[in-house]
Amino acid sequence: QLIQIINGPNLNLLGKRQPAIYGHETLDDVAAACTAMAGPLGLSCAFFQSNHEGGIIDCIHAARETAAGIVINPGAYTHTSVAILDALNAFEGLVFEVHISNVHKRESFRHHSYVSLRADGVIAGFGTEGYTLALRRLGTLLAK
Ligand code: DQA
Repeated sequence: QLIQIINGPNLNLLGKRQPAIYGHETLDDVAAACTAMAGPLGLSCAFFQSNHEGGIIDCIHAARETAAGIVINPGAYTHTSVAILDALNAFEGLVFEVHISNVHKRESFRHHSYVSLRADGVIAGFGTEGYTLALRRLGTLLAK
């Protein structure tokens, strides 16, 4: 079963951007770790990153036809985007929200997430391991 992994704005700079907060691993490293995790769980992964809200929404719409689950780090759109929430509400599979940093330890504007109103689970502050942890959970739930 396919899992669509979606990363939002500025995450293309992962590894270079504020490494004290987000670490030194790149998005390619994350993709490699997810691919390695997915196989033994009987899952496959598709990766998408966009700095544009509409591109993320189009990807979620496409996932309606292709994916059993979505793992999404919406970046700053987490805190602003009703449109991404609405798109996820139109997706019928499982949704896991990932934040590399512990958003609750940071500025108060990062404490609220629109996406959490839809997410089946949220991981924050586990670094880039959050993505593979979300995949493990999807493997458990989809095996049932
Ligand atoms: C983030 C947290 C957001 O507040 C921030 O805007 C990001 C990344 C994270 O992965 O910790 O771009 O989603």
